This record gives sequence, C-alpha cells and structure tokens, in this order.
Amino acid sequence: MANIYVPYGSVEGQTAQIAEYIAELIRAHGHQAEAADLKHAGDTLPAGYDCVIVAASVHMGKHEGFVTDFVKKNRGELDRLPSALVSVSLAAHGDEQSAEGYVEKFEEETGWRPAHVGLFAGALLYTHYNFIKKRIMKKIASDKGSPDLDTTRDYVYTEWDGVQRFTEDFLAGLSAPAGQ
Ligand SMILES: Cc1cc2nc3c(=O)[nH]c(=O)nc-3n(C[C@H](O)[C@H](O)[C@H](O)COP(=O)(O)O)c2cc1C
Repeated sequence: MANIYVPYGSVEGQTAQIAEYIAELIRAHGHQAEAADLKHAGDTLPAGYDCVIVAASVHMGKHEGFVTDFVKKNRGELDRLPSALVSVSLAAHGDEQSAEGYVEKFEEETGWRPAHVGLFAGALLYTHYNFIKKRIMKKIASDKGSPDLDTTRDYVYTEWDGVQRFTEDFLAGLSAPAGQ
C-alpha cells in the first residue's frame, strides 16, 4: 500500500476538486492519499509519503507561484520518489500546444521533469468571478470563438474519465516490476 501526497494550487477551486477526486480514487484503490492546499499547507513536503502528485492551475500563462516554490524547494524528493504533475488550464480544452507550453515553462523554471504529466481542462466559473474577471474571461472566450459566453452560469470542461485513467495508470506504474 502506498501513501500518496497530492499537494495542489487552485485559485477558483477547480484544481482543488481535481486533487480531491484523485486522492479519493487512490483511497478507493486501497492506498492512502491526502490532498493538501499548498496555499495553507506550506512549502515543506511532509515526511512519510511514498509518492507525490502535484496539481496546479494556469492563470495568465503561468502555474501558481507558490506551487513553483514548493517544487523548487522539494526537487530532490520529487526526483527520488515516483511523482507526477497535473496541469489544469482552459488551453487543455482544445489547444494542446499551449497547454504543453505552460508545462514546459514550469519545468524550465523548476528544473523538475516529472515522468507523468496530465493536462486537464479546467472550468470557466463565471458565477465565482468578480465583475472584472467575468469581463476578461468572457472576452477571452469570445476571442477564441467559444460559444460559452453566458456569464450567469459556469462551464466545466474537466473530463473526469481522463483524470481517472491518469490516476489509475500512475498507480499501475507503482506496482509494475522494475524496468517496465
Ligand atoms: C484570470 C484568469 C486567467 C486565466 N488565464 C489562463 C491562461 O493564461 N491560460 C489558460 O489556458 N487558462 C487560463 N485560465 C483558465 C484557468 O486555468 C481555469 O479556469 C482553471 O479551471 C482554473 O483552475 P482553478 O479553479 O483551480 O484555479 C484563466 C482563468 C482566469 C480566471
């Protein structure tokens, strides 16, 4: 049985939901897992974990600065333990190249090159945004030709099946014999 830490950065809450979903799924497979909001958990990787799945969301082209700091500080452990990165963005919903670009930038900045990377679409949570954010996000969506412009509702693009597959592949990798 593995004990897996799932630290995450989330501004509007979608990545928090994805991290909690991953942790629940891991527990449902008989392992231990804890999702931790890095905004409050601090930048130390607690002792006793066998694996780490870091999740972060993209705003203005970058993942959260405090997630970058966590990864930089714990690079040694992340390189030593089985680990993965989950990157959440709107680009992952149809603009794979940009979504990959954000991860490349993150990897360059932190020096961490995780063996497993999951790119997942986040959400347009209009009802959670303040007036200015709502206008900015509607303009971005409109410029991209998206029909999702009704700011009285939210649009969630996360494909939970994909998150499940990614998590189960990661778990399968842990039990695979060395070299496979
Ligand atoms: C102000 C703002 C800026 C954003 N900038 C980007 C961006 O540059 N690229 C992108 O792909 N998605 C961008 N997004 C979309 C977020 O990545 C998406 O809403 C994600 O679900 C946010 O995750 P969170 O709720 O965990 O913070 C932005 C969203 C907001 C609200």
